[in-house]
Amino acid sequence: MGRLDDQVAIVTGGAQGIGGSTARRLAEEGARVLIADIDMPTADANVAGIREAGGTAASVRADIGSHDEIHGMIDRAVELWGRLDILVNNGYTPTHGRGRGTALDVTEEEWDVGMNLLVKSIFLGAKYAVPEMEKTGAGSIVNMASVHSLLMAPGKLVYEAGKSAVVGVTKQMATDFGPMGIRVNAICPGHIATERIEAAAAENPSGRRFLEDQYPLRRVGRPVDVANAVVFLCSEEASFITGHSLVVDGGMTVQLQEDFGVRQATYVQENPDTILPH
Ligand SMILES: NC(=O)c1ccc[n+]([C@@H]2O[C@H](COP(=O)([O-])OP(=O)(O)OC[C@H]3O[C@@H](n4cnc5c(N)ncnc54)[C@H](O)[C@@H]3O)[C@@H](O)[C@H]2O)c1
Repeated sequence: MGRLDDQVAIVTGGAQGIGGSTARRLAEEGARVLIADIDMPTADANVAGIREAGGTAASVRADIGSHDEIHGMIDRAVELWGRLDILVNNGYTPTHGRGRGTALDVTEEEWDVGMNLLVKSIFLGAKYAVPEMEKTGAGSIVNMASVHSLLMAPGKLVYEAGKSAVVGVTKQMATDFGPMGIRVNAICPGHIATERIEAAAAENPSGRRFLEDQYPLRRVGRPVDVANAVVFLCSEEASFITGHSLVVDGGMTVQLQEDFGVRQATYVQENPDTILPH
């Protein structure tokens, strides 16, 4: 018996990384999982792995920057399995530096593209997911925020503002949809060594060590550390938890690091091909 038997879940950005692990963990707990992504070969590989392990999964192409494709992914889950219980808003396109800078540097277009993916996608997801969840009188939405929702790095206007807004939209939706039996929570991960980041770290082991040293637990996170938190928030064990932002960061945000910004800036200056993300 899994903790999510017979539930239907959608994971955006579920092909790989945190979303990939989340899709696998939800399926291990008995949920039927629709992976919504733009990288279909990788999404389909994750689906195949879940099925080989005895789980139920399917994929759908859905760009979370597109209103129609977000609507389409919700419809697809209901078409496949007749209901929707869980929506994990996780997908994100790394900007590779675009959209970095202060309000003086960031263009209006970079702001709009970033906010579209980081925040508007959650609003549109709820617009179509909530009516389906309302039919069963229950549901769980989990939004992927970040430690960057809580601590601001200089010159990262779009990501920090967007991830801060994820925490706000989570609280608002918890307030609005709680009476329908729908819980809405967020997760604030610290540095998570995804496949993408591991590949970069392999070429830059000192960057990896630098990051590990910033964490009281002296390691960075694994995708499954976040996936386990998603499973918990979607499970019956969290039935009285809503509007919460759960920090999954190995203690990074609770320790006083007075000189972290200076050390990070120095490190990045000395290592221009750094893997330090976001
Ligand atoms: N990895 C970290 O250190 C970290 C830390 C804090 C928060 N986060 C957040 O976690 C989430 C996942 O990050 P990750 O590191 O696992 O990313 P990742 O790059 O490893 O995976 C992202 C997935 O999203 C998909 N994707 C990209 N653009 C998309 C779009 N427009 N529509 C649908 N799918 C799209 C990609 O194809 C990929 O499968 C993001 O919201 C990110 O901001 C990550």
